[in-house]
Amino acid sequence: MTGGRIRAACVLIAAAVLSAASTAGRAASDPAHDTHSFARPAEARVTHVALDLRADFAARTLAGTATLTLAVAPGAREVVLDTKDLVIERVTEERGGTLRHTFGDTDPVRGRPLLIALPAGGSRVVVHYRTTPQSVALQWLTPEQTAGRKQPYLFSQGQAILTRTWIPTQDSPGIRQTYRARIVVPPELRAVMSAEHLTPDGVPVPGGRAFEFALDSPIPPYLIAVAVGDIAFRPVGAGNSQRTGVFAEPSVLDRAAYEFADLDRMLAAAEALYGPYRWGRYDILVMPPSFPFGGMENPRLTFVSPTALAGDRSLTSLAAHELAHSWSGNLVTNATWRDFWLNEGFTTYFQNRIMEQLYGPERAQMLATIERQELQEELDRFSGTPRQTALYADVQGQDPDANLSAVPYDKGAAFLRMLELHVGRERFDAWLRSYFERHAFGSITTPQFVEDLRATLLGNDAALERELRIREWLFEPGLPGNDTPPTSPTLERAAAEARRFADGSPAASLQTEGWATQQWQRFLATLPERLTGAQLADLDATLHLSERGNAEVLFLWLRLAIRNEYKPAYASLERFLTSQGRRKFVEPLFKALLDTPAGQTEARRIYARARPLYHTSARQALDVLLDPSSRPSRSH
Ligand code: BES
Ligand code: ZN
Repeated sequence: MTGGRIRAACVLIAAAVLSAASTAGRAASDPAHDTHSFARPAEARVTHVALDLRADFAARTLAGTATLTLAVAPGAREVVLDTKDLVIERVTEERGGTLRHTFGDTDPVRGRPLLIALPAGGSRVVVHYRTTPQSVALQWLTPEQTAGRKQPYLFSQGQAILTRTWIPTQDSPGIRQTYRARIVVPPELRAVMSAEHLTPDGVPVPGGRAFEFALDSPIPPYLIAVAVGDIAFRPVGAGNSQRTGVFAEPSVLDRAAYEFADLDRMLAAAEALYGPYRWGRYDILVMPPSFPFGGMENPRLTFVSPTALAGDRSLTSLAAHELAHSWSGNLVTNATWRDFWLNEGFTTYFQNRIMEQLYGPERAQMLATIERQELQEELDRFSGTPRQTALYADVQGQDPDANLSAVPYDKGAAFLRMLELHVGRERFDAWLRSYFERHAFGSITTPQFVEDLRATLLGNDAALERELRIREWLFEPGLPGNDTPPTSPTLERAAAEARRFADGSPAASLQTEGWATQQWQRFLATLPERLTGAQLADLDATLHLSERGNAEVLFLWLRLAIRNEYKPAYASLERFLTSQGRRKFVEPLFKALLDTPAGQTEARRIYARARPLYHTSARQALDVLLDPSSRPSRSH
């Protein structure tokens, strides 16, 4: 395309955008308006990002340029980008002429808007910049913090609003962008990204190796992701349509390939359910232990925590979850962070359908029932602040990640399961397939979802809508009366054993032979919160709970041990807290420690050792709990 034709196309896009958004005053109450971004996309909107960056491990910075292609509305004079903790050196036109830029006020959550005067008639701006050690999206690891212990490592985590700490762009999930990147890294390392790998082995350049990437499907910017390290690759799965594989540090590659051997079957099952996979390849990158999440659905390249490597494929529903995001989340995206449940609730529902397809209804029922148990725990936890249990979330003015909970996941999935039950699976599946098709590469709000549901599934049938209690499900706290909780006889057997133990039966008499991971989870969650030291010692000696390698099981055991101050498990606790940094595990365990009379000192001591391993986001959450000096001082 010539420059002129690009500009003409841009103006057309902008006109469409304008007719949808209108004035700034309206935008504030518009459900599609993203309060977490400074961008004013109706005036000038980023449509493509081209990165040219060099990774400097000594300085811990990425430095270079981001060239942004814009759709500019007639008369618009400036473009507003989101930035946070970036050093902006200068802004130019493509040909090098300087463009005037200014900054708005810094907001502690959103960062700092960067306002750039638009070049006359131009639709590209080049931002020359570098990241800083404060850029939260980037974690720079020393060799000791990796599995191989020889090379450093770098990875990014963009969701929810962290991409602005490493890329100056419009960081809103409603503003989709294609991207390209050239990343220069030290010669012995490899770079991977959530995009097509144009130069898998890199190209030698002075002082390093350059890797190039392209993603031609537009995505929300939180999905732009990079990792750099000693990373190897192996294809997994049979079949001619080799589409799946694993990346990991060399010493982890065998275990990764074993654990995710079913990846290609998962992909085929997902497609059979809800339509074609639109992203080409699907690979998994097993991260270093400090990765703060279980998984992150970066397009074409899901990042997963090594805590998913149970050794027996018992935690692979996590891969099903991240894969499902290739439809719910990456193809059809929550337009703002209020609508987060549209990403996670749909994905949790879809994940369970993949597991059912692959491993049968019993395993799927078990997984759904465990999720329900976690949801119930969460609802109990929020009993004092029930607003936090509404699906349509009130996150304005807050960091959307500050209150991550099971609600958008498991209440969201429960809502979709309820719809399925009422309209029947066949009709529901056909609708969901059409939903992904109709909104492909689009972003959607909760009110838009309701409109869509009315028009395309409920046929504007008011009686049916009342029966479904849509408004209650989406906008009110708790679980509506038409909820039907999943149950699992297999898990019930494990719960019954837990009750037997609580009633005084010795651990040796429990029937635990051949239990699945999920049965262990149910057993541990069903035991009473208070047990005697003798009971805990009996459990541990007989069932070897402190030695479990399965992170989900070990977590529940350690939480129980802490609640009862069962000291013999504390060596295992310390090992767990200093060997991985997944927030779902480390934060509740530190909280449990702090809740015990003597736990403060122990928690601080272990945290001092563990903290260097953890991701900045985990540190920020834990510093508040564990380091009183980081709390705002109180005057009294
Ligand atoms: N997209 C999320 C992770 C996320 C959410 C990162 C919000 C940052 C902000 C991912 O898909 C996810 O849900 N991961 C879960 C695993 C899943 C099986 C529930 C996790 O990390 O525990
Ligand atoms: Zn998810």
